[in-house]
Amino acid sequence: MLSIVVGGFYGDEGKGKVVGYLASTDNPEFVVRAGGGPQAGHTVTEGKKVTQIPSGFINPDSKLLIARGTVINPEVVLREIENYAVSNRIGIDYGCTIIQEEHKEREQDLVNRVGSVGTGTGPARVDRILRKAIIAKEVESLKPYLVDVASEVSQASSANKNILVEGVQGYGLSLLNYKFYPFVTSQDTTASQFAADIGIGPKAIDEIIVVFKSYVSRVGKGPMKSHWSEEERQKKGIEERGTVSGRLRRLGDFDKNMAKEAIIANTATAAAITCVDRLFKDNSGVKDFNKLTLQVQDFINEINSTLKKESPYFKGITLISTGPDLKDTIDLRRSI
Ligand code: GTP
Ligand code: MG
Repeated sequence: MLSIVVGGFYGDEGKGKVVGYLASTDNPEFVVRAGGGPQAGHTVTEGKKVTQIPSGFINPDSKLLIARGTVINPEVVLREIENYAVSNRIGIDYGCTIIQEEHKEREQDLVNRVGSVGTGTGPARVDRILRKAIIAKEVESLKPYLVDVASEVSQASSANKNILVEGVQGYGLSLLNYKFYPFVTSQDTTASQFAADIGIGPKAIDEIIVVFKSYVSRVGKGPMKSHWSEEERQKKGIEERGTVSGRLRRLGDFDKNMAKEAIIANTATAAAITCVDRLFKDNSGVKDFNKLTLQVQDFINEINSTLKKESPYFKGITLISTGPDLKDTIDLRRSI
């Protein structure tokens, strides 16, 4: 079974937590990070943040892979490998594009214009397109980790092993989407892209889980349909800052239209909704759907029925996150 987890809004929907949960419950043979670069940070649980290695590191029995479509800053990836002591179970693809110091400088224009994070990911991809980027197999310090991720994943997939793929950012940052351009990231951010980032085809994917947060957040510039005023935000008592940038995120209401489009563009089979406890107080740590307040049950049921109408592939919302801990999760996978 190969599952891909992707973001449904502008990133930071809580994919790190969802991947961490799935990695601990489903015991995948491999957890694969696909796409993005060090600008895409994930929080697995409080204080456990990664930007390059898969959030699935949380399961000590899973092997970790970084797919070739991921842009790498060797210094950052090596630091994370050391911090989380995963050197004996991580593989980095020979083909990953490498960030060099000048890429960060060249990103300044994007930082100013579209609110990029400034880690050099976009300019490194530009050099890849111009065929002048260096790739992982040319970097001495990465040599102990180099593998062919496409071949590892396709072999494991043929042997029916569980594989969990972790996409990055979110549907609203897709490079090729004309509605969002130019406030987008340097690649598309849907499941097909992440499959291509690994080097497998769409038919190898069994499950596509789109993660939504109960409200919308956005770290960079660019339009948002609903945007809470500072007063509204304080009334709701929610504050968010970027994992990588530390910048205050703009927040707004759950965007149903965007959610519908994300379900279609990803041919999603399931969805996860996070942070319901932040939007609706008194639901913190709830593990049983029937114990959620009626307000949250209605909120989830309404989103569920709206999304189900959109796509024949979509089975429904399967995971609801009610807190930062991996245990704070309602898992409906067996009941739908
Ligand atoms: P992705 O980029 O999608 O992986 O999300 P992220 O991990 O970058 O999101 P963010 O940086 O916003 O981190 C989420 C924060 O909220 C972390 O501190 C998580 O531990 C926490 N979190 C995740 N899910 C929940 C939830 O359902 N409720 C609450 N209260 N906190 C959550
Ligand atoms: Mg993030």
